[in-house]
Amino acid sequence: MAADAPPHSYAPREMLTIDPAEHAPRQVYKLMTGIIVPRPVALVSTVDRDGAANLAPFSFFCGVGSAPPTLLFCPALRSTTGMDPTRRKDTLRNVEETGEFVVNVVSDSIAAAANVTAAEVPPEIDEFELAGLTPVVSAVVRPPRVDESPAQMECKLMQVIYTSQQPGGGVIVLGEIVRFHVRADLVDNFRVDPAGLDAVGRMAGNTWVRTRERIELIRPE
Ligand SMILES: Cc1cc2nc3c(=O)[nH]c(=O)nc-3n(C[C@H](O)[C@H](O)[C@H](O)COP(=O)(O)O)c2cc1C
Repeated sequence: MAADAPPHSYAPREMLTIDPAEHAPRQVYKLMTGIIVPRPVALVSTVDRDGAANLAPFSFFCGVGSAPPTLLFCPALRSTTGMDPTRRKDTLRNVEETGEFVVNVVSDSIAAAANVTAAEVPPEIDEFELAGLTPVVSAVVRPPRVDESPAQMECKLMQVIYTSQQPGGGVIVLGEIVRFHVRADLVDNFRVDPAGLDAVGRMAGNTWVRTRERIELIRPE
């Protein structure tokens, strides 16, 4: 093999190429959650019209921009009608009705509790109570923050985008962060201590990931 030959010319990899249109949404979902990893987990608190609190985790979640500070998370439409004939998850219904939500960061110490809040329970069940988490009043929005979370972001709804109306269809909730709350011992001049934050993420299925092994890569000029 000539020294200047491109590597792929002598070690072709066998790839499985998949057309999502030929497979059930459930299979495609498995591919996505297996490939798009690790995903941070937003533990989202909302309230309904009457002020009843709701809490649920969402890992289709990321920051969007910093001026104004914006983030998104994606409460998908349910695949079965279940308890909610409109297919909307309680979180989505509450956000659409009230225009407010709080994203609470999930540290390793509250990962199991956050997982408990994923239970498909009727809207009248308070997941704070179910998971043993403590609601604490927010500064500018009605939904409470999770006291045990090391960082919380109060958000006002900017836009909801439905990518489809089908079961399993994606819904993007875009919000502006109007208040940050970060445990004081974890912040130094706006830098957050990743070891102290001890955030967890989600992989596929029931697998989660810790952020305790980190690497430093100096960014090129
Ligand atoms: C770690 C984790 C991440 C999740 N991420 C999502 C997600 O990104 N989108 C989604 O629709 N459901 C997600 N779920 C499932 C919801 O949390 C679940 O459907 C929950 O019951 C919704 O609650 P709600 O009806 O109170 O809004 C996730 C569950 C877990 C455990």
